[in-house]
Order: sequence, then C-alpha cells, then structure tokens
Amino acid sequence: MTSDTHDEVRFPIQRECPYAIPPVYTRLRDEEPVSQVVLPDGRKAWLVTRYDDVRAVMSNPNLSSDRRNKDFPVVVAGQNAALAKHAPFMIILDGAEHAAARRPVISEFSVRRVAAMKPRIQEIVDGFIDDMLLLPQPVDLNQAFSLPVPSLVVSEILGMPYEGHEYFMELADVLLRRTTDEQGRIAISVKLRNYMDKLIEEKLDNPGDDLLSRQIELQLRDDGEIDRPQLASLALLVLLAGHETTANMINLGVYTALSNPAMLSEIKSSPKKIASFVDEMLRFYTIPDFGAHRLATADVQVGDVLVMKGEAVIASTFSANRDPAAFENPENININRDTRHHVAFGYGPHQCLGQNLGRLELQIVFETIFRRIPSLELAVDESQLSFKSDALVYGLYELPVRW
Ligand code: HEM
Repeated sequence: MTSDTHDEVRFPIQRECPYAIPPVYTRLRDEEPVSQVVLPDGRKAWLVTRYDDVRAVMSNPNLSSDRRNKDFPVVVAGQNAALAKHAPFMIILDGAEHAAARRPVISEFSVRRVAAMKPRIQEIVDGFIDDMLLLPQPVDLNQAFSLPVPSLVVSEILGMPYEGHEYFMELADVLLRRTTDEQGRIAISVKLRNYMDKLIEEKLDNPGDDLLSRQIELQLRDDGEIDRPQLASLALLVLLAGHETTANMINLGVYTALSNPAMLSEIKSSPKKIASFVDEMLRFYTIPDFGAHRLATADVQVGDVLVMKGEAVIASTFSANRDPAAFENPENININRDTRHHVAFGYGPHQCLGQNLGRLELQIVFETIFRRIPSLELAVDESQLSFKSDALVYGLYELPVRW
C-alpha cells in the first residue's frame, strides 16, 4: 500500500506498527507538508500533514464534504455508492444543509445531557464486567466488553431494542472493513436502512424517552410530517459513529495500559489521570484512519500550495496529532499533560457530535475495569495481536485477556 519513495506516495498509507507513525508521514510533514499522493483509482490528491494546515483545511468552507458531488475523491471503493443508498448523512453535507441536519440533535449530546447519563453508563459497564467475570478464561475483551458497552449505550440513547444488535454489529463490522467491495457495501447499506426504517415505524406508534422519539415529535411539530429517510440516516450515523469508534478506543487503551506496567500503576493509583489518559489515547492512535477528505469548490491556499477548484484534499488528523509543532515529543505517550487540543474528533463544523459522550464512556470504562479487575493482563504475546490495518477505523480485532 505504502510507497515511501520520493517520487510517489500511495494513499491510504497502511500502519505497520501500533505505536510508530508510518515514516512517510514524518518525512512529508518535514519536507513537503502539502504533497501530492495517488488514490487507489489513480487520481491525485493533496495530502496535508501539519497540525495547523489540517485545522485550516477542516474549517475552510470552500473545502467541501459533500460526497454527492461526482468529483468527490474515492478513497474506499464503493463507499460513495453505498452512501447514495441513504438520505444524506450530516457528515457529508456542507454549510446551511449541514447546520440544518446537526442543529436539532446538538442538545442530545451536550455536556449537561451527557453528564446525566453517567449513572446509567456506569451501570452498563459494571453489568458487562459482572458477566465477563463469569466466563471461562481467556476472554476476548472485544466481544465480551468493548463492543457491547458502547453499543448498548448508543442503542439506549436512540431508543433501539438491544436484541437486534448482534445483527447490526455484524453488518457494521463488514461495512467498516476496507476490503469490502462495492456490491457488498451497497447490500449492507440497504439492510441497515431497512432496519432503521422499521424502528422509526415502531417509534411512531410507541414513542419513548429517547432521541428518535424526540426527533419525530420535533418534526411533526415543525413540519406536520416526518422525513423518514432523513431520520433513518440520522439514527444510522449515530449508531455507526458511536459504537465502533468507542469500542476500538477501549481495546487500544486497555492494550496500551496492560503493556506499559508503569503507566497502568499510575492510572490505578491516581484515577484523576484517567481523563488525560483518555485524551492522550485519542491523540496517539487517532483511529479514523483516512483523515478527512474534502473537495475544493474554489481555489484555496493551503500552506504553500494553491489548491485549485476541483482538486481533492486529504487532511491527515493522524499526522497532525503527531506534529511536534503542536505536541512535545508526540511519539511518546505522556498522561501527565493536557492534549485536549488534538484533532482526533476532527475540527470545524463537522467536529464529532458525540465527543462528550465518547470521552465520558472511555473515562468510566478505564476507571472501572482497572479498579474492578486489578489482575487483568494480556492472555497472548503482543506479537500475536491482530491490529485493524485493513479497516476504516484503526483498532484491534480481538483482545484476549485473563485475570
Ligand atoms: C470515542 C471515539 C470517537 C472518535 C475518535 C470520533 C471521531 C469523529 C470524527 C473524526 C468526526 C469528524 C469527521 C469529519 O470531519 O468528516 C466525527 C463526527 C461525528 N461523530 Fe464521532 N467519534 C467518536 C465517538 C462518537 C460517538 C460516541 C458518537 C455518538 C454517539 C459520535 C457521533 C458522531 C457524529 C454524529 C459525527 C458527525 C458530525 C457532523 O458531521 O457534524 N462519535 N467523529
């Protein structure tokens, strides 16, 4: 995938090691921070690798996120065709259209609303730990804990029954693999859309105290009718964006702490450091592996380069989060500093809507799991772990543990 020659860099750039950033990013950041790369379909794009430039790209209104545009770059085969099967997700909209889709749900993820979820999230985390402790060891933490926790949290927020979840999780897993082909992506997208449509039907008949029911009520009040495809897309986005990302961060955080005994004992002895551990993990791994893709809708200056209208731009949040101009010793994990200015949740208008929730879930998870299972350890040698270098979101496929 990667060619670290000085004449051509192919994108995506695969991670070979969980800790070190691929050297090509470091070279480009030093020598050519806005440089041409080649996408899988042969098209060229500008890869942006410095922190300041990445933030400038992500907040520039002339760098569009609208994947409905036929000129939008294709980094993952079939992704844009699969997206076309849904009413547009807010994540692919620009300007006023984006604001209209995001505005009605902002309050669902506010600091206050999320803080009120704390006791229930704690209960969910404790419940899955209780269940896991009864299992024969070793246990795959990913299946027993890391996936079901955020999955249940987000399904409760939406008002979705938990029973359908295994079905949903299976589909989402295939969808998020980089290797799934166009037909596969489209087929899964249609199944997911139908699933959500049925759920909305049920909510219309039986409203509850949940995000979907509140959105239905809001639309009925303001417009006299509901936009079902738009609601299905909203629910799907929240579900997809909210469970896999958090699950991968749980696995990576547990793996990192268990393979760094000094860090683990620091976390256990001072739980106040959990918050900075969470942000340092988010920064260090920057799991959305493709960065942010944009299409120039006007000529735009990015660093030293004048990007022309119609050209593709990829802002690497991963590289930005390892930029020494923004973080001292960025290749080291240091839980005794404030790194909340990282761009792991993106930047600008599309900055992660669920970041308060993501942070809170991760803080509760790490505080609880290391306190309740003090003898937790990896059940295999680190070299046997399988990292997701073929997925859209970085992480671990399995995390075998024992205690
Ligand atoms: C904890 C790990 C998480 C990470 C690393 C993460 C990362 C991101 C990133 C990088 C973006 C911006 C994408 C772009 O600019 O194109 C984003 C957007 C989004 N995230 Fe998250 N996210 C996480 C958790 C969550 C959770 C828990 C939820 C909700 C339950 C969520 C919901 C969303 C939504 C709805 C958007 C789209 C916002 C928009 O387009 O305006 N995320 N996330």
